[in-house]
Amino acid sequence: MSLAETLAPLDVSPEKREVLTLNHTYLMPNRVEAWAGAGVPLVIGRREGYRFWDLDGHELQDLHLNGGTYNLGHRHPEIVAALREGVETLDVGNHHFPSEARGRLAERLAALTPGDLHYSVFTPSGSEANDVAIKSARHATGRRKIVSLEAGYHGASGLSGAAGDDANAVYFRSAFPDEFLKVPFGDLDAVEKALSGREVAAVLIEPVPATFGFPIPEDDYLPGLRALCDRYETLLIADEVQTGLGRTGRLWAVETFGIQPDILISGKGLGGGLYPIGVAVLSRRVGEWLHERGWGYVSTFGGSELGCFVALRALELCAAEATARHVAELSTALADGLADIRSRHPFLCEVRQKGLVVGLGFDDPNGGLMMSAALYPTGLWAMFAGFDRRYLQWKTGLLADRAYLDEALGKLETAVKRVAG
Ligand SMILES: Cc1ncc(COP(=O)(O)O)c(C=O)c1O
Repeated sequence: MSLAETLAPLDVSPEKREVLTLNHTYLMPNRVEAWAGAGVPLVIGRREGYRFWDLDGHELQDLHLNGGTYNLGHRHPEIVAALREGVETLDVGNHHFPSEARGRLAERLAALTPGDLHYSVFTPSGSEANDVAIKSARHATGRRKIVSLEAGYHGASGLSGAAGDDANAVYFRSAFPDEFLKVPFGDLDAVEKALSGREVAAVLIEPVPATFGFPIPEDDYLPGLRALCDRYETLLIADEVQTGLGRTGRLWAVETFGIQPDILISGKGLGGGLYPIGVAVLSRRVGEWLHERGWGYVSTFGGSELGCFVALRALELCAAEATARHVAELSTALADGLADIRSRHPFLCEVRQKGLVVGLGFDDPNGGLMMSAALYPTGLWAMFAGFDRRYLQWKTGLLADRAYLDEALGKLETAVKRVAG
């Protein structure tokens, strides 16, 4: 089907049609067709706070947040101000030399991450931060194998892609099944079996796997993983790209679940939605290589000075006590509101929640997908879970207020009625 045919049943302005055509021709034909085919011909125009407007003017609440990139909202005034202030004197910087902005951010990350986490390696993305983590773990242990969860997503670069998204790694002939072993979420026996040969450098996990619909681990799962890693001298990498920066109620999910990783990964919201930045925070032991191989990882844009300046402001906002208090209140209100809707509509059959990390399960194998499409016309965008389409990822911003939440819950109920009916 041509793009014109796909767009024919949709009400699309000439301005938007031009943007869709440009993207279809030069960037992403399959994606443009897929969204249009699903009835979501979204092109994001104006954006502010926790809302954005489609080019045609359709207003949407943002319950996707692009995975937490907009944790603090779109164009948060303090982040915009930091970017403006930074650009007065800074630019990307020169990655070969020390820098104040980079040093100040690394110092705060060492203070705000638990235990022995100490050295920061900055990257332009979460994917590359996972690559750095994997290489660091391999060097520190002298082993090559990596164990990760079947439910996990860790990015799209070489190593992170091999550790996470199987289908794409296979498609691009970039899977290494002998070195990247996958285990089911929640299964400690499978982890032990994989580690027992003592060939595994690290276990890489998302504490609550986002793309799998945020299944909340049993209380003993993550401590059990930590204990197995200790027993077999394997490192534990916590990918907190989606769960970190205050979303589970503490700054990091590893604190919420009471474990201490050897490497912690952050990204997305760390840049305040305005500047791309990722980081691998390494324990002193894992970061030993930084003492002997100064150029072991180099990246022109990783740790851009402007990005670090902006990220420091974003980190402080996420870590503020007032933010944590607000998240606690909002999480309770969200739990009450979701329980209420669930009591009236059995189609919403499961609520997974840890703070503002929420996965909603629906009574249909494609329930999450159907809900994304049904929510769109009500004026709310939330993304289904790509690895399990029964689930919808429901990401409320850290600073959203009660009126915003109530409006979103109202739209959720409207969409549930429409889909279930
Ligand atoms: C848990 C997790 N890790 C890593 C990544 C990769 O981050 P990036 O897209 O910045 O490379 C993502 C992106 O969605 C993610 O959700």
